[in-house]
Amino acid sequence: MEKVTVQMLIERALEARTYSYSPYSGFQVGAALLARDGQVFTGCNIENAGYTPTNCGERTAFFKAVSEGVRDFAAIAVVAGPADTKGDLLMGAPCGVCLQVMMEFCDPETFQIIIAASPEKYEIFTLKEMLPRGFGPKDLGR
Ligand code: THU
Repeated sequence: MEKVTVQMLIERALEARTYSYSPYSGFQVGAALLARDGQVFTGCNIENAGYTPTNCGERTAFFKAVSEGVRDFAAIAVVAGPADTKGDLLMGAPCGVCLQVMMEFCDPETFQIIIAASPEKYEIFTLKEMLPRGFGPKDLGR
């Protein structure tokens, strides 16, 4: 299988962002999650009139993967910004709930979070850098 590059992952996240359902915030998020076997699972944010049932783009990608039997991940690319953004997107961090979901399935020391404004402009952090003292399965002794 062709090796998935950072740029390819960001392009997949940008494509997923076009499916964002965000009529309430107008903030569109796309994510592309790379499994260790090379598969890519995409996601977008999905809002709801009840507000709290809203699902972030990152979690959509994780839940798609896990629900298809994949639990071993290498990286996620995230792109986000208001719907009317022209040019570079914003480079915000994933929310705490999404980082917590990552803690469940990813090695904090090695899992890479790619926050991108475009395929050329991005920063890469480990999950541990984003959530230094995160609570995960090990804290339950598992
Ligand atoms: N959102 C995400 O999809 N990912 C994040 O990490 C931060 C926030 C979404 C949720 C909501 O639909 C919109 O962005 C505004 O918060």
